[in-house]
Amino acid sequence: MRNIYSNILKVNNKNLSKAINYLEKKELIGVPTETVYGLAGNAYSTKAVKKIYLLKKRPFKNPLIIHYYNLEQLRKDVELNDNFFKLFKKFSPGPITFVLKKKKKSLLSNLATAKLETVAVRFPKNKILRKILKSLNFPLAIPSANKSSHISPVSAEDVFQEFYNSVKIILNDGPCEIGLESTVIDLTSKPKILRPGFIGPVNISKVLNRKITINTNSRIIKAPGMLKRHYSPGIPMKLNQKKAKNNEAFIVFGKKYKKEKNIFNLSYKSNLNEAAKNLYRTLRLIKNRNYKMICVCPIPQTGIGIAINDRLNRAAK
Ligand code: TXA
Ligand code: MG
Repeated sequence: MRNIYSNILKVNNKNLSKAINYLEKKELIGVPTETVYGLAGNAYSTKAVKKIYLLKKRPFKNPLIIHYYNLEQLRKDVELNDNFFKLFKKFSPGPITFVLKKKKKSLLSNLATAKLETVAVRFPKNKILRKILKSLNFPLAIPSANKSSHISPVSAEDVFQEFYNSVKIILNDGPCEIGLESTVIDLTSKPKILRPGFIGPVNISKVLNRKITINTNSRIIKAPGMLKRHYSPGIPMKLNQKKAKNNEAFIVFGKKYKKEKNIFNLSYKSNLNEAAKNLYRTLRLIKNRNYKMICVCPIPQTGIGIAINDRLNRAAK
């Protein structure tokens, strides 16, 4: 019998070479990162980048994050500034994305940046992805490896469930360490968080020595991609619920909840990092079990709880 997961490859030297060869041929591959799994392609090639948009069914006006190995590579494409250096030194490589001004002579495909004058850039921490980036002579455009507006993938199997045989190589590095997308911070003027993540406003404020605001609810959508409805399981959701009916899925947090078939606990220990790691896996599980309604208990709005609530709010739209 054919292995239905034949596209999911374990990481060894042979498979890494194969993956690198695919990227050099302007093909796409599924890659692990510390945040969520991504769909990677050559960011200097419009041919490769176009494949990303088409496969994800992503609107062309929603720009991609460009992933780099080091500063030397980055300098060719964007203008760096003091705030960037401070945050880079403290948090990179890691789950933070910086929006910076694009250089005129940048080789980035205009499609990857949705023709904007800014670029979102990130240095991922995942060791396998860093090995790949190191051996390439171009950066990678890597959005989350899900169809546009769907739940982001946190395992190689999730990526397979999104794209089946359209992605020929998915490198398997087990479940993602963090489980939520990177923090996106705009550094082109007064620093603003555009998408909350593991690295929160308090951590960033300390490094920059100023108060940092979160801008995701602004009426002016700064990034074309800060779409209101996102991360969606395609099932109606009710947030801040105290209880749920037996035929509804109930997502809870903390040990005061009973163990029932329809109760999905993000963290018995009331640990927000654990809850973040379990969130997308749980939403996908509930979707696969064909529930018609999801209720969610209140989640504390502190630390990575801010990012969890941001994703829940968008998923519920
Ligand atoms: O953790 C992550 O960042 C993951 C992993 C795979 O690295 N990637 C990811 O990419 O979440 P994606 O495409 O799913 O989300 C990218 C976000 C979008 O909301 C997009 O609008 C925003 O970054 N973005 C990209 N370029 C931008 C720009 N120039 N200005 C503002 N926002 C930008
Ligand atoms: Mg995404």
